[in-house]
Amino acid sequence: MRFESLYSPHKEAMRAIVSAIVERQGLLPQFYWPMDLLGAEIATAESLGVFEGELLVGFVLYRELPGVWEISLVATHPRFSRRGFMSALLKQLIDAKGRERELWLEVHQDNHLAQQLYEKLGFQMSGRRPKYYQDGATALLYTYG
Ligand SMILES: CC(C)(COP(=O)(O)OP(=O)(O)OC[C@H]1O[C@@H](n2cnc3c(N)ncnc32)[C@H](O)[C@@H]1OP(=O)(O)O)[C@@H](O)C(=O)NCCC(=O)NCCS
Repeated sequence: MRFESLYSPHKEAMRAIVSAIVERQGLLPQFYWPMDLLGAEIATAESLGVFEGELLVGFVLYRELPGVWEISLVATHPRFSRRGFMSALLKQLIDAKGRERELWLEVHQDNHLAQQLYEKLGFQMSGRRPKYYQDGATALLYTYG
């Protein structure tokens, strides 16, 4: 397993991971990333990837704000799920942010797998945004810092 910042040449591999997730679970409100929205986010956010050999198997997108890195998307290819890739990648991001920054993210109330992942890593639930998602669901805000 190795970690690398991602750039334009990795865009297609990132899209392929999201397509594989959508193929597996459908376009659920818990993870709503149509390709145009995803393309815009990939183009403007920072990204870090986790590789198995030469293959990109997971990535995180985040935005740098003053004192905070705000995570907008985390995704592992379904073929590689539950093998610790995203835990390892987020630990890498936690180390990289240093002590002077926090990590923030929001997650759909029904995305229990992602909530488990964040809580295991030590993220704390810090707030709620009711009716945040298209389906009227609440966003749970998590902070690490
Ligand atoms: C959520 C996601 C990123 C987890 O990635 P992953 O590489 O499989 O994560 P890990 O292997 O590091 O798993 C860490 C923990 O998450 C939870 N988890 C992840 N996948 C799970 C599954 N299929 N079933 C149950 N728990 C699961 C478990 O608590 C797991 O710890 P454990 O294996 O010790 O029990 C991945 O399933 C994914 O891409 N999901 C679709 C996209 C998404 O929902 N992103 C989050 C939106 S903000």
